[in-house]
Amino acid sequence: MSEYKRNIVITGGAGFIGSHVVRLFVKKYPQYLIINLDALTYAGNLENLKDVESAPNYRFEKGDITDPKRLDELFSKYSPDAVIHLAAESHVDRSILDPLAFVKTNVLGTVCLLNVCKTRWKDKYDGKLFYHVSTDEVYGSLGKQGFFTEETAYDPRSPYSASKASSDHFVMAYHHTYGLPVVMSNCSNNYGSNHFPEKLIPLMINNIKNNQPLPVYGKGENVRDWLWVDDHALAIDRIFHMGRVGEKYNVGGFNEWKNIDLVNLLCKIMDKKLGREPGESAKLITYVKDRPGHDMRYAIDATKLKKELGWEPSLQFEEGLEKTVDWYLANENWVRHVTSGDYQLYYNEQYGKR
Ligand code: NAD
Ligand code: TYD
Repeated sequence: MSEYKRNIVITGGAGFIGSHVVRLFVKKYPQYLIINLDALTYAGNLENLKDVESAPNYRFEKGDITDPKRLDELFSKYSPDAVIHLAAESHVDRSILDPLAFVKTNVLGTVCLLNVCKTRWKDKYDGKLFYHVSTDEVYGSLGKQGFFTEETAYDPRSPYSASKASSDHFVMAYHHTYGLPVVMSNCSNNYGSNHFPEKLIPLMINNIKNNQPLPVYGKGENVRDWLWVDDHALAIDRIFHMGRVGEKYNVGGFNEWKNIDLVNLLCKIMDKKLGREPGESAKLITYVKDRPGHDMRYAIDATKLKKELGWEPSLQFEEGLEKTVDWYLANENWVRHVTSGDYQLYYNEQYGKR
């Protein structure tokens, strides 16, 4: 018998959102054992978890979710009663360069996890939960009006969103076919500390700091709905504990920004922080060839989560963005470590030809 009330496997816990979720659960729930299962791809970094790595209720297990033997071994060792699944290939531009890597981790990996839960929990589903963390990108692209609700039909348009949509369908299929207790959330774009600098906000902060061109795709008119990463972690906490089994919940920031307006705001903040003349950083803005199939607008209606579970975003965007900039300026070593090696190769391939 475990000395802990629950043994919870969190996949992808060394990544951006996963590390915030692991930290929240390790600190808030000393009565739970938190097992972080991560393959440590280019996007996974144990430096993200330095402050909790020696907590008594935390374990790290290196492993690939597409490896059924490794998953079985892990279930033998810990007999987990819940999985919070965040491990994924998560970057749209990379999915355009290499779709199969996304099918492997996001589709096959998710099904391998569902399988081990089904096999190990069979007939003892009471108190068990498979929580699947997904994205609003499965719903496709909005025009100027409207929002994604939980009833919006799936219409993925990038290899990344197609692979996430497929994993969502498998999760629901395991619920309906085998009775696996599942819950799922679909969230809008996150931002905050430990965000890998291939994504818009950290890439722009890094380039502004280094006086590099700021590559804005197309006309910069695409719209994203931004949410502070710790608010997402709090939503996951609430859905994990209070969400209804078999349901999905949309999570969003009620915070839409056109890319070009967001980049200009970042330039303004960075001018102030770096002691530059107002307008100096914005001179680095460079319009580049658009992303193929670039979704125009994402916007989440998170009313269900607010009404049923009382969750709301806590932080204003300008405040969160300033905190994020401060974190990147104070953590140059982190940025240096994650942007060496493989990342340089990717950056040259992605931006060299634009
Ligand atoms: P990330 O790329 O920063 O981290 C992914 C983590 O998964 C890394 O630690 C990586 O090492 C690990 N991983 C990758 N392949 C693995 C494998 N085969 N086996 C085990 N571990 C593996 O991603 P993120 O931005 O933190 O996203 C986490 C989850 O949240 C993803 O499922 C993503 O689809 C979803 N999501 C992300 C956002 C966002 O804005 N970033 C928004 C909504 C939903
Ligand atoms: P990203 O952070 O890749 O998230 P997603 O595509 O999953 O929403 O990109 C956010 C927006 O910023 C998206 O509309 C694409 C755009 N973008 C740029 O204009 N330039 C860039 O260098 C990057 C990485 C993204």
